Amino acid sequence: MKNYTQSPLPFQGQKRKFLSHVKSVLANYPEDSIFIDLFGGSGILSHTVKQLKPTAKVIYNDYDNFSKRLASVSQTNELLRKIRIITKDLKKDKLIPEPYKSEILKIIKQEENIIGYVDYITLSSSLLFSAKYVVNFAELEKQTFYNNVRQSNYVTDNYLKDVEIVCSDYRKIFDQYKSISNAVFLVDPPYLSTDCSTYGSDKYWKLKDYLNVLDVLINTNYLYFTSNKSQIVELCEWMETRTDKENINPFKDSTTVCINTQLNHSAKYTDMMLYKFK
Ligand SMILES: C[S@@+](CC[C@H](N)C(=O)[O-])C[C@H]1O[C@@H](n2cnc3c(N)ncnc32)[C@H](O)[C@@H]1O
Repeated sequence: MKNYTQSPLPFQGQKRKFLSHVKSVLANYPEDSIFIDLFGGSGILSHTVKQLKPTAKVIYNDYDNFSKRLASVSQTNELLRKIRIITKDLKKDKLIPEPYKSEILKIIKQEENIIGYVDYITLSSSLLFSAKYVVNFAELEKQTFYNNVRQSNYVTDNYLKDVEIVCSDYRKIFDQYKSISNAVFLVDPPYLSTDCSTYGSDKYWKLKDYLNVLDVLINTNYLYFTSNKSQIVELCEWMETRTDKENINPFKDSTTVCINTQLNHSAKYTDMMLYKFK
C-alpha cells in the first residue's frame, strides 16, 4: 500500500515534519492499541499510524470533512486540467491577468452549479499566492491569481484505507474512549489564535479553548503537538510551582521532540511534539 509522507491534498498545519518521530514513538505501543486522532485535519497522522500498525484500530476525527475533498479528487483533477489549458501560454508563478482569470472563474462557477461542490482549498494552492487559501467562490473572485497551476493529477488512492472516520467535537470523541486503557490520543489542536477559516470552523482558537484541550492529557497515553509560540508548556510548568494540586501539569514526565523552522534571517519558531505513556 502506498505510504504517504504528506497529505495528498493541500492542508495547512499538517504534521508531515513529525512523521518519523511519530513512528518511533508508536513502536512502543502494542498492536492492539486504539489510536484516536482527535484533531484529524488532513488525516496524515491517522494514515501513518495505520501504516505502522495495520491491525490496530485507528480513529480519525474528520472535523473539517477532509474526506469530502478526497472523494472529490477526480472532479478537482478534471477542473485543474481545464485550468491548465487556459493558462498554458502564461508564465509560471506570474500573475494571471484578464481575461484568463475570468475564464477560470467561469468554469469553476459552472462546476459548482452542476456538481454542487468545489474543493476551493486545493484550487487555492494552484491559483493564489503561496499559503493563501479561500473556501468559497465569493472569496476566490476577490483574489489576485498567480499561475501556480499544478501540472499533474492529485493521487489519493487508499490514503485512509481501514481507518475509521468520525466527525465530531474532540470532547465528544474523547468521552467515548477516555476509560479505555489501551487508548492512545493524538492531540493536535489548532494553534492559539490561528484563523480557522480554512478548517471549516468559523472561530479563532482562544486561550480558553486551548487550555480546555489539556483535559485530554490527564492520565492518558498521548502525543500532543504545539509550538513554542503558544507557551502552553511553560504556563503549565509555572502553575505546578504555584499549587500542590496533583496533575496540574499534564506535561510532567513527558518527552519533547522539537523541530525548528527558520522563516527568514530573523524570524524562527519551534514546533514541538510532547508524548507520554501513562
Ligand atoms: C492543526 S490541525 C490538525 C492537523 C493534523 N494533525 C494534520 O497533520 O493534518 C487542527 C484541526 O483541528 C480541527 N478542529 C477545530 N476545532 C475542533 C474541535 N472542536 N474538535 C475537533 N477538531 C477541531 C481543525 O479544523 C483542524 O483540522
